[in-house]
Amino acid sequence: MPKSIVIIGSQWGDEGKGKFVDLLTENVNAVVRFQGGHNAGHTIIINGNKTVLHLIPSEIMRDDVINLIGNGVVLSLAALTKEIEMLQGHGINVFSKLLISDACSLLLPSHEKLDQAHEDLRNNEIGTTRRGIGPAYEDKIARRGVRIGDLFHKEYFAEKLKNILDFHNFILQNYYRAETLNFDQTLNTIYKLFEPIKKIVRDIPSILEKYRTENKTILFEGAQGTFLDIDHGTYPYVTSSNTTIGGVSTGSGFGSLYLDYSLGIVKAYTTRVGAGPFPTELNDEVGEYICSKGNEVGATTGRKRRCGWLDLVMLKRSVLLNSFSGLGLTKLDVLDGLEKIKICTAYKLNGAIIHNVPTNIEDFKNCQPIYEEVEGWRQSTFQVTTYTKLPKQAINYIKFIEEFVKIPITIISTGPDRIDTILLKPFE
Ligand code: GDP
Ligand code: IMO
Ligand code: MG
Repeated sequence: MPKSIVIIGSQWGDEGKGKFVDLLTENVNAVVRFQGGHNAGHTIIINGNKTVLHLIPSEIMRDDVINLIGNGVVLSLAALTKEIEMLQGHGINVFSKLLISDACSLLLPSHEKLDQAHEDLRNNEIGTTRRGIGPAYEDKIARRGVRIGDLFHKEYFAEKLKNILDFHNFILQNYYRAETLNFDQTLNTIYKLFEPIKKIVRDIPSILEKYRTENKTILFEGAQGTFLDIDHGTYPYVTSSNTTIGGVSTGSGFGSLYLDYSLGIVKAYTTRVGAGPFPTELNDEVGEYICSKGNEVGATTGRKRRCGWLDLVMLKRSVLLNSFSGLGLTKLDVLDGLEKIKICTAYKLNGAIIHNVPTNIEDFKNCQPIYEEVEGWRQSTFQVTTYTKLPKQAINYIKFIEEFVKIPITIISTGPDRIDTILLKPFE
C-alpha cells in the first residue's frame, strides 16, 4: 500500500469521497483535510448508521487514526464546535484524535453574513453554500485575515479583528444594507469557542514530516471537486480554493514529491449543486429518475442536485489535472434499470468538434455534448461485492470509461454503506 494517498473528487463534488476515505482508512494512520471549509458534506454509512462531516476529516469514526485539519482550510469555530458536539453525542472522543493547524485562517461570522448578503443581492448568482467560504478566502489572500494561531496573542488578535470587522461592517452597512456585527460580542464569542479547542492547535507540517519518516500512512481528503477549483474549474462558478492535487501541498505543508498515489472519485453519472453550465444535464424524466434513485440532495444545504450523464471529456481533463493513478467509481447501482445509457465523449462548439473542456465559461456554456450510447442493464448491482457478479453491460460500461481515460478503475461502489464495495486492484 502506498504511504501517502490523495483522494480527490473528479467532477463537481459529492462523488462519494467520504465513503472512500472511510473505506480506505482501515490501514491508514492519519487523514488530512487541506482545503475548503464547512461547505463540504461528506457522508459515511457504517452498518446503516449515517454521519455527515463538514470540517472534520472522515476518519474520526475509527480509533487509532489521527485527523488533521491543514492550513488550507478556512475554519469556522462555531461550525467546528457544532460538529464536535454532534460526534461527542455519538460517543466519539474527538479531542483524542483531532489536530488543527495553527495557520488555519478563521472563517468569521461576518464572512457568513457577507456571503449571504452577496448571494441575496445577486439572486444566488453562484449558488454558494452561504457558509462564508468565498469571503474568508478573499481576506486570506488580501492579507487582512486572522488565523487560529493569532488567538494565542490576545492584543494582536483583538486589533486585527477590530480592523477586519470595521471593514466588513462598512461593506455590510453601506453596500449590502445588511446588519452589522458588534466587535466586543464577536471577540467574546470567538474566545469562548476557542477555549476547548486551543489544546489541539499544532504545527501540522512537522507532524506530517514525523509521520512520513516513521513510515506511517497518510491520506489526504479532498473536498468539493476538480471543476469547482478556483483556477482549473468552471470559473466563476467554482468554490474559492484549489480543490485539485496542488492544494494538498499548499494546504497541508506536505511536499508534492512525497505523494505516492492519487485516487480520483467519479460518480457513474454527473451532478452539480448551485449555478453554472452543465453540458450533460438532463432536464427530463431520466434526470428525475437518476436524481431520485441516487437520492441526490445536498449533504450540506439540502438543495436538490442537478443530474446528467457521465461526461468523459471532463473526466479526462480531471485525470490530467490531478495525475490520477486510478479511479474509484461510485453509485453504479443508481444506473440500474436504464435501457440505454449515454456517455459524453466530445463537445460541439461553434460547429466544430472539440475534445477538451474549454477554459472560458462563455465557450463552456455553448458546448453541446456528443454522446455514445451503450446498453443499460436490468439486473440490480446494488450491494454487489464481486466484479464477476456484475451484469455484462455494467462491466462494458466500466471498461468504456477505463479505455477512454486510460487509467484503471480500481474500486467500485455499489451502495452507500462501507461494505457495498468491489475492491479490484486498489493501489496497484
Ligand atoms: P462527498 O461529498 O463526495 O463525500 O459525497 P456526499 O456524501 O455529499 O454524496 C454522496 C452520496 O451518495 C451520499 O449520500 C452517500 O451515502 C451516497 N453514496 C456513496 N456511494 C454510493 C453508491 O455506490 N451507491 C449509492 N446508492 N449511494 C452512494
Ligand atoms: P463536497 O466536499 C458540491 C458548490 C456550491 C456552489 C459553489 C461555491 O461535499 O463535495 P461555496 O459555498 O464553496 O462558495 O460555493 O461550490 N459547492 C459544492 N458542491 N459539493 C461540495 O462539497 C461543495 N462545496 C461547495 O454549491 O456551486
Ligand atoms: Mg458532499
